[in-house]
Amino acid sequence: MNVSIIGTGYVGLTTGACLAFLGHKVTCVDADERKIQALEAGRVPFFEPHMEDLVADARCNLCFTTRYADAIPKADVVFIAVGTPPGPNGSPDLRYLEAAARGIGQNLADHFTVVVNKSTVPIGSGNWVGALVREAYEQAKGRKANGAFAVASNPEFLREGSAILDSLYPDRVVIGADEPRTSEVLYTLYRPILEQTFQAPAYQPRPDQLAAVPLISTDLASAELIKYAANAFLALKISYINEIGQVAEKVGADIRQIARGIGLDARIGPRFLQAGIGWGGSCFGKDTAALVATAAEYGVAAHIVKAAREVNRLQRERAVDKLLAELKILKGRTIGLLGLAFKPHTDDLREAPALDIARKLIERGARVKVHDPVAMERFRRENAELEVACCASAEDVAEDADAIMLVTEWPDYADLPWEKLGASMRSRILLDGRQLLDRERLTRAGFKYIGLPD
Ligand SMILES: NC(=O)c1ccc[n+]([C@@H]2O[C@H](COP(=O)([O-])OP(=O)(O)OC[C@H]3O[C@@H](n4cnc5c(N)ncnc54)[C@H](O)[C@@H]3O)[C@@H](O)[C@H]2O)c1
Repeated sequence: MNVSIIGTGYVGLTTGACLAFLGHKVTCVDADERKIQALEAGRVPFFEPHMEDLVADARCNLCFTTRYADAIPKADVVFIAVGTPPGPNGSPDLRYLEAAARGIGQNLADHFTVVVNKSTVPIGSGNWVGALVREAYEQAKGRKANGAFAVASNPEFLREGSAILDSLYPDRVVIGADEPRTSEVLYTLYRPILEQTFQAPAYQPRPDQLAAVPLISTDLASAELIKYAANAFLALKISYINEIGQVAEKVGADIRQIARGIGLDARIGPRFLQAGIGWGGSCFGKDTAALVATAAEYGVAAHIVKAAREVNRLQRERAVDKLLAELKILKGRTIGLLGLAFKPHTDDLREAPALDIARKLIERGARVKVHDPVAMERFRRENAELEVACCASAEDVAEDADAIMLVTEWPDYADLPWEKLGASMRSRILLDGRQLLDRERLTRAGFKYIGLPD
């Protein structure tokens, strides 16, 4: 099929490259000319394991442009994958979505095209995008858009850091549409994934025993709400273990054993039960805020989701409070942060806890040194206003530091030469914000180990 993708970020590029890898003809559109130039030169503008390999493998089916006119008229399916960042009152800022919908409407040809919302959009956006596309089409063509297009919702569940795995071998595909012929087009598009009939790339083998992927075919509003409900549930699972962590700390219980003990219950499952600093990233914060805002519009209080957000906010404060309790005075101290990205295996810094924690430490008069295995360049580009010292290694972070805080659970930090690091520090204090490190190992290396929870 001919596919166009509007917005070539983490989601758009992953979708485009995967569909091209499966044999569809894909045109990726982005408003950012530099991004398109980099992609044309074979460079992926963000860090994602094996994305450059996938783009290279799919290159014969993949092209990149900034012009809607080069992409929309020939498309059978147009995906919208532009950003929907948080707006001031919790509802997402939909200006990119609106621009994309209008651009699509102005450029649609006369054959039937399915316009798909892959961006995470508030409930009801399917109808809204439909109205915008229709209006733009009718203005551009001077005639009614009857039957020229239909809107579908196909929410994205990929995780940065394992985006290719999640896209080629998803837990499920959700398609929301109000007419059967729209769902059928998307069913045909996704058939190789649903039936797992493609040859897996060597760098991303098919998980054992994956024979088929479940399809949820539903109406537009249900598909839109599935996305918000899934993200909010994952977010509240993290906040739940963090709340249990506070109780565990008070009663002297071990949160890692508790997480294992509850996670082995098949009804609960072990994932998203790692206590620590809490979630960050471009999705959980904005999607929980959007769900609360939508619920409020309909008179629903969303108590549980609100509480999960508050617990998460407080975890970052707790991390700083624990250092304060240990050091008594933060003014003039040097604190080293290990990890900047909001999670390992990505360079994405959106809503990253490390940025918030660095700001809080600076406000209290501390000097902050930072390191991340892959996000340093992006950090310098996007956060130039933050007055921190950028270090080339964890060893540099440790030098003359009064304490180190492990913020992102990069595997690189799991087994550092702690004796060497400790020897160059002013005091051997380590706050493990992710329950990653071995307390006994750190204690043997002369550190005061502080857990979150402890
Ligand atoms: N990143 C994730 O892990 C993830 C996972 C699931 C869902 N989502 C959702 O997917 C959507 C996209 O997220 P992302 O992380 O890929 O965002 P992103 O910021 O990485 O990419 C968005 C891209 O859209 C481009 N763009 C903006 N307006 C445009 C326009 N009018 N025309 C063409 N291009 C335009 C931007 O230049 C940018 O490259 C969001 O709604 C997000 O909530 C993201």
